[in-house]
Amino acid sequence: MEHTPSTAHATSASPFHVDNTLEYKLWRSSKLADYPIDINGLIVPIVDPYQLSELEKQQLLSHCRKTNFAIYRFLSPKIQVDKFVLQALTAQLGLHHLDHNLGADEDGVTALQVSPALGTQEYIPYTNHPLNWHTDGYYNSPECQVHAFLIHCVHPALKGGENQLYDHELAYIKLRDINPEYVDALMLPDVMTIPANQEGTLLIRAAQTGPVFSIAPQGHLHMRYTARTRHIQWKSHPKVTAAIQTLMSILTQDMVFRYCLSANEGIICNNILHNRSGFTDSLNPQQKRLLYRMRFYDRIKMD
Ligand SMILES: [Fe+2]
Repeated sequence: MEHTPSTAHATSASPFHVDNTLEYKLWRSSKLADYPIDINGLIVPIVDPYQLSELEKQQLLSHCRKTNFAIYRFLSPKIQVDKFVLQALTAQLGLHHLDHNLGADEDGVTALQVSPALGTQEYIPYTNHPLNWHTDGYYNSPECQVHAFLIHCVHPALKGGENQLYDHELAYIKLRDINPEYVDALMLPDVMTIPANQEGTLLIRAAQTGPVFSIAPQGHLHMRYTARTRHIQWKSHPKVTAAIQTLMSILTQDMVFRYCLSANEGIICNNILHNRSGFTDSLNPQQKRLLYRMRFYDRIKMD
């Protein structure tokens, strides 16, 4: 396909550059070697989230190096879970720059709960409806891309609310294996546009156009994606259409991780693909599903 490559896309030494077959093959075989299939092997028990032990930290980082995510479990139910403890935990993994998205408090922590509050009821994260495959912040501007996020469960739902998780690097591999031109199509700088978010005459967020896959200046693969079909404009090109259809079939057919967070557990990741099933809340207002979410402009520091 003819297009003007972005600066990152033009980084020809990267294994993610579609013309760099040699580096790609090396990276691919290392990535797929001993790739875990059991999510229970990716759970890290944590004694004191304010001060991770060396072993806890290394386990979290080693899982993130391999699969781009880890699940943690606070061992003590006495830990007071608030934004301070989550900030302390994420800071130990190199996550410092929070995205202050709509719904986040002044410290960048978002409480995800079914809410009738004015202004949030139209956003699916604040309802009990299923949430389709996406990466976080796909509607952010290019300079505010989300490279990592944490979701912490305070109260699970009475029923449902399970996440499916899929390493975006695997999605890249599967697509490239099927047809490298699909990867090329999804790296087009104008392939995916999220129209402006407007309420009446009030512009809440400007339209955002950008690639699905891109090579971050630090060299890692970044993904910006939503499977939603409303409020999204895909570039009109047969290769783009084929690429997004293929990606969707990969997400429905390939082995994806499934996990339903319990209280005191959380997911920390390099903004991998994820979705969430619908759920039923408890009738007890004190036991309604409550999750905290933090989105970061940083990636987990895995070196
Ligand atoms: Fe999300």
